[in-house]
Amino acid sequence: MSPESPVVELVGAGFAYEDGPPVLDGVSFAVPRGRAMALLGRNGSGKTTLLRLLSGGLRVGRGRLLLDGEQVSYDRKGLTRLRTTVQLVVQDPDDQLFAASVEQDVSFGPMNLGLPREEVRARVAEALEALDIVALADRPTHLLSYGQRKRAAIAGAVAMRPRVLIMDEPTAGLDPHGQERLLEALARLRAAGTTVVMATHDVDLALRWADDAAVLSPQGLRTGPIAELLADDALLDAARLRRPWGMAVAAVLRAQGLLDEGAAGPRTPEELDAWVAAR
Ligand SMILES: Nc1ncnc2c1ncn2[C@@H]1O[C@H](COP(=O)(O)OP(=O)(O)OP(=O)(O)O)[C@@H](O)[C@H]1O
Ligand SMILES: [Mg+2]
Repeated sequence: MSPESPVVELVGAGFAYEDGPPVLDGVSFAVPRGRAMALLGRNGSGKTTLLRLLSGGLRVGRGRLLLDGEQVSYDRKGLTRLRTTVQLVVQDPDDQLFAASVEQDVSFGPMNLGLPREEVRARVAEALEALDIVALADRPTHLLSYGQRKRAAIAGAVAMRPRVLIMDEPTAGLDPHGQERLLEALARLRAAGTTVVMATHDVDLALRWADDAAVLSPQGLRTGPIAELLADDALLDAARLRRPWGMAVAAVLRAQGLLDEGAAGPRTPEELDAWVAAR
């Protein structure tokens, strides 16, 4: 299998909630191995629904879900195979956390895999460290702040060491330091080979972090290199997305003849600084 062949893939997927109109209709969405992918779209466009279909929490009504090119059967065996490969961190941490303490919550998944106690302990320590919540290990989850609960929920998925980590708006509610810590943790996971998909409303974060974008709009789902899709004003309009800061800066630089037409612009203030310094 090529390095970028999809790990999970929806093919012609359709889905409607009970008695509701179709949320997704004939959507094909491949998550290529090793990539960082941002899923963007307005409220109610179907991001959460799509992520739940990919991780097996919802069952495709029409179309197929493939894991490593093989159709997923929604029986116990198929779902176990899917869930040990793909981990979803849901939008609201209160839908995910249930154990009495942070440590118990994070260890629940690895323990359920039947791993030896030492291995569970090592994974939990690693996940708490990655999310910067070591000091919260013994705290009751229900007494944590929202951002702390969010990090604890992500740690629970990280401790499963999934090949694909899917997160639904993981940075919403995190302070700037927490966001940076999360991005650092994701960079380490990616270096270790984890594929990461993130739904977000933050186009600046998406541009900076992701390789690829998947944009849901009334015209359907478009996927492609993030810098290309977020430079497409018609697509941004259709999906009601703001133009990322970096794209706006690049447009100004191009209009002033300071940046070549085809050249990529800076994605962050730091990159702009470096670009100016290098001139
Ligand atoms: N459990 C449900 N039952 C019925 N309809 C639902 C359910 N969950 C979502 N929907 C509907 O499906 C559509 C897509 O919702 P979804 O939660 O996937 O959107 P989203 O892109 O994640 O939005 P947001 O940015 O607000 O998180 C919406 O019209 C929503 O009202
Ligand atoms: Mg959502």
